[in-house]
Amino acid sequence: MRRKLLLGNWKMNKTSAEAKEFALETKELVELASKNNIDIGVAPTYLSLAAVKENADKRMIVAAQNCHFNDHGAFTGEISIPMLQEFGIDWVLIGHSERRAYDNETNFKCHEKIKALLANKMVPVYCVGETLGEFEAGETKDVVSAQVKQGLEGFSAEEVKDIVIAYEPVWSIGTGKNASTEIAQDVCGFIRNILRELFGKVADEIRILYGGSVKPENIKAYLSCPDIDGGLVGGASLKKESYEGLLTNIL
Ligand code: PGA
Repeated sequence: MRRKLLLGNWKMNKTSAEAKEFALETKELVELASKNNIDIGVAPTYLSLAAVKENADKRMIVAAQNCHFNDHGAFTGEISIPMLQEFGIDWVLIGHSERRAYDNETNFKCHEKIKALLANKMVPVYCVGETLGEFEAGETKDVVSAQVKQGLEGFSAEEVKDIVIAYEPVWSIGTGKNASTEIAQDVCGFIRNILRELFGKVADEIRILYGGSVKPENIKAYLSCPDIDGGLVGGASLKKESYEGLLTNIL
């Protein structure tokens, strides 16, 4: 039985002080999630990771939004895995569409990062999804299949059993145009079949999230789909009231 997972992606929002406030005011929500066997977390900016880690309920998952695959070196502006580990961070978003679009994050680069995370027993949340042009051209499954296969190439079933995949159609991110539950389930089911092809029955343990304009009002419909185990939520995860709504609507 896969545990539900609600993960907020704060992107480039919230100062450290604002992140601390959120961490403190959501303590009971984490308690509530835990009582209901739901994993809950947020991905703050690098600079707010410590504030959330120190102030949130200990069961809150605190994820970084990116990392480098090298431990150290001449990579100006980058942050490495040991630096995250020093702050107790063991979850990292990989390949978010904004990073793919603005930072040239390729499937190959994602693969290198996932490899480094798995070697450190950390949890990658690997984001995949097609652009509007690809969607309109009917290429969704080709694109998603290449992202999943290239990103996860060569790993063993044992290594990937705790990873999380997030399917986020780029045209639905921050646009209010969310994918229908039929589309979301179809693609998430397709992803699970690829995982089954690659890793066998461990595919049934891997959590697949839907992301893209998820709100308190629509999250329940997504989570009632058989292959959707949770949500990766941007805008609606920023305010306590809305984050609370996301959780209470999936209890
Ligand atoms: P959104 O973002 O919920 O604001 O659409 C989702 C994401 O980018 O993860």
